[in-house]
Amino acid sequence: MGKNLKAKKVSESQTEMSQLMMPQDANPFGFVHGGSIMSIADKVAYVCASRHSLKMCTTASVDSVSFRSPIKVGQLVNFLASVNYVGRTSMEVGIKILSEDLHTGKTTHTNSCYFTFVAIDGKGKPSPVPPLTLETSLHEKRHKRAEERRKFRLAQRNKKG
Ligand SMILES: CC(C)(COP(=O)(O)OP(=O)(O)OC[C@H]1O[C@@H](n2cnc3c(N)ncnc32)[C@H](O)[C@@H]1OP(=O)(O)O)[C@@H](O)C(=O)NCCC(=O)NCCS
Repeated sequence: MGKNLKAKKVSESQTEMSQLMMPQDANPFGFVHGGSIMSIADKVAYVCASRHSLKMCTTASVDSVSFRSPIKVGQLVNFLASVNYVGRTSMEVGIKILSEDLHTGKTTHTNSCYFTFVAIDGKGKPSPVPPLTLETSLHEKRHKRAEERRKFRLAQRNKKG
């Protein structure tokens, strides 16, 4: 991590975005494509990583994703993004995705997923990011889990060569 860079709090980069699901996001039966959701999630996570690093960022990996319940056209989808962990040049951003039925007010946690972004310089080379200041016990819990996921990812990367 960028030891000379000033640490930033988790709350300084937390990002929320909501999007109404439209017919172009869905199949002919009105169920939203997982790819539509992941495309928006990638953008929200990008904003969060950019707010933390104030640098250009690129998606290095996305952890496996599963959807617990369907999202339908006409529902609002809320994306909540937070930096969980920073390395020297990389950041894990966790996204919680909630669907909201605008007629009943009921919200459903459809899934959570984890993006790793790497801050890059003008030549596309990894560039240091500010350390992360954890503010709550929830941040600490997420940080610990993110550290375990990072170990797993790096092991997978080394296995593939
Ligand atoms: C991401 C990228 C910049 C990393 O470059 P690299 O030369 O492999 O970088 P390094 O090996 O020096 O690793 C730099 C950081 O990236 C992390 N990283 C690299 N590959 C990773 C992966 N697959 N998953 C998670 N983190 C990864 C490393 O852990 C390291 O983090 P740290 O500095 O916090 O310890 C490079 O692989 C790249 O440009 N990839 C294409 C990204 C892209 O185009 N994304 C959009 C797809 S459409």
